[in-house]
Amino acid sequence: MHLSATAALITGGASGLGEATARHFAAQGAQVTILDRDADRGLLVANEIGGHFAQTDVTDESSVAAAIATATDKMGKITATVNCAGIANGIKTVGKDGPHPLDAFQRTIDINLVGSFNVSRLAAVEMAKNDPEPDGARGVIINTASIAAFDGQKGQAAYAASKGGVVGMTLPMARDLASTGIRVMAIAPGIFMTPMLAGLPEDVQQQLAADVPNPARLGDPHEYGRLAGFIVEMGYLNGEVIRIDGALRMR
Ligand SMILES: NC(=O)c1ccc[n+]([C@@H]2O[C@H](COP(=O)([O-])OP(=O)(O)OC[C@H]3O[C@@H](n4cnc5c(N)ncnc54)[C@H](O)[C@@H]3O)[C@@H](O)[C@H]2O)c1
Repeated sequence: MHLSATAALITGGASGLGEATARHFAAQGAQVTILDRDADRGLLVANEIGGHFAQTDVTDESSVAAAIATATDKMGKITATVNCAGIANGIKTVGKDGPHPLDAFQRTIDINLVGSFNVSRLAAVEMAKNDPEPDGARGVIINTASIAAFDGQKGQAAYAASKGGVVGMTLPMARDLASTGIRVMAIAPGIFMTPMLAGLPEDVQQQLAADVPNPARLGDPHEYGRLAGFIVEMGYLNGEVIRIDGALRMR
């Protein structure tokens, strides 16, 4: 599947990793529809890359169904879905203010895990309608996990659980969708310089960068986008999680 012939749905495409992916895919000639709850940024990026935008809450069934209908209408088909919409928080299981608020835990799971599954399952229905390529391929889904799925830090119970869920659903989804020619992959990023990270104090950013063995820097969101593009084109990759982290293993 060539990137230039891809019609991609990219959630979270208004910012960070999703935005970089949208820009990379469009630069390679792909059609792109951005799904994001941030209409201002989403429209701006979509206009800059000659793509489309649908304001979407990934946790909402009807909102995603409407966005996928818009994307199919604008692009004619969907052949790739990249789930980058997500949130992060830092709350300890029991902290100064008492137990972890249950609603914050549930919200994190709802957006990062349930939202990714919601978009994937509805997009898969559309992708299954594509004419198959000679090898039977009809599309690819790329979910975004995190190295926190494996090396979660203090305060990351909710976030790490949501990303562990993304890792866990990768293989069964790939098996479920095998007969339709749709592959399912996940990317587990290390620490990337996105607005999610830019909010941290400068010294914390520098410390995080110094902890990355090689290269000793934060990831460039464009590198995530290029990996997503590689996964689209590499048809034998399926049911696997790829870490992109400069060998970072957080203790
Ligand atoms: N930045 C990193 O270092 C890093 C590392 C590992 C994993 N990740 C994961 O990568 C993904 C993207 O992170 P980022 O750093 O680009 O963050 P970001 O905050 O820059 O972008 C996230 C985007 O998701 C959108 N979004 C949030 N909730 C949404 C919802 N309910 N419906 C629709 N859109 C919604 C936001 O509006 C925003 O545009 C997240 O899943 C994050 O957990 C990021």
